[in-house]
Amino acid sequence: MTSPYNPAALRAREYAWMADDPAMFFNAASVGPMPASAVRVADQWSALRAQPHRLPFDAMLEAASTARAQFAALVGADPEEIALMPNTTYGLNLAARALPMRPGTMLTFDGEFPSCVYPFQALASRGITLELIPRRHGLPDEDALVAAIHREDVVAVVVSWVQFATGYVADLARIGAACRAHNVFFIVDGIQGCGVRPIDLHALPIDIFASGAQKWQLSPWGTGFVYVRRALVQAIDPIDVGWACMKTSTDYTRLTDYDFDLFDDARRFEVVTLAYQDFAVANASTRLLLDVGVEVVAHHIEALGNRIVAWAQSRSDVRLVTPGDPARRAGVIAFTADNIQAMAARLHAAQVVHTVREGAIRLSPHCYNTTEEIERLLAILDR
Ligand SMILES: Cc1ncc(COP(=O)(O)O)c(C=O)c1O
Repeated sequence: MTSPYNPAALRAREYAWMADDPAMFFNAASVGPMPASAVRVADQWSALRAQPHRLPFDAMLEAASTARAQFAALVGADPEEIALMPNTTYGLNLAARALPMRPGTMLTFDGEFPSCVYPFQALASRGITLELIPRRHGLPDEDALVAAIHREDVVAVVVSWVQFATGYVADLARIGAACRAHNVFFIVDGIQGCGVRPIDLHALPIDIFASGAQKWQLSPWGTGFVYVRRALVQAIDPIDVGWACMKTSTDYTRLTDYDFDLFDDARRFEVVTLAYQDFAVANASTRLLLDVGVEVVAHHIEALGNRIVAWAQSRSDVRLVTPGDPARRAGVIAFTADNIQAMAARLHAAQVVHTVREGAIRLSPHCYNTTEEIERLLAILDR
């Protein structure tokens, strides 16, 4: 499959530096490069921030409400179900501590990023233990997970949508259906898929979905969101409480009324003064993704990934870590080789920006990468 989308115009407009830079950037799974339109907003807000009296209060509130609305649009949610967060992990901690889980067992896959592990291991004092479902051929064993959900002791499941090291895409509909059938909470770490793979949260049995925006969403560090399923928004209590959770926070004449009156929507989980500036920047990045279209980006990175997968499968000394099946991968493509260190060193010397995770080379192309770059990359790997 080739991609009908041509990134040339987007590169010229948003990533002009790529034309002159000898580096090829394949590392959105670590940190996404901010587009020029977002950098412009950052500059504008920095200038305003230097003279805060020129920055209207309404502009700050508007940046936050646009961020909620655009993040919601990215994942098929309503803005009222979105709370702005500084990263993924805070949203997962909200899930760990706010969901009314009885003592029992939580399940996740061995090999997940620690954000799916530590917040839940921390629940031991509540009688909740986290069980890791062992890997099968190095990948998450979804059959074993779904089978385990039937057990009486299981109270919740947490998985990442796309795994950070293997790039494995979990079948959220299948896992969620098993959770729903057994009254088990379902929590998802969405950061490695959000922005580059379509998702309709209203069509999925997911209770809480958290994502930082600093990777595939091409946004500043310190921006992200948590989605809380509508029926839960008012049914769970915030874990941390501050002035920003309260209705009075938008009316500075009423701050000392001390009305303990939480917002009715997911803003009740936003505790403190927001990073308005960073969310204004994130809004420009999210706009770009929505304008290009998440579906279009998804097809593009699939086509680029297909080339890398075909190359890996053609080499007897290379073993693909990421599933070959396009339905089971997103932007992360990982592979090992007999001499992985030499290969990584060759990439490094040729200024191919990548990472090594769990002993595998990880490449993560995005909407700005071209087929020609992939061919150059493969030629470097074949040298
Ligand atoms: C699956 C996954 N979750 C979470 C994170 C980072 O968490 P946070 O956004 O809280 O820093 C990463 C970063 O590599 C990740 O790959």
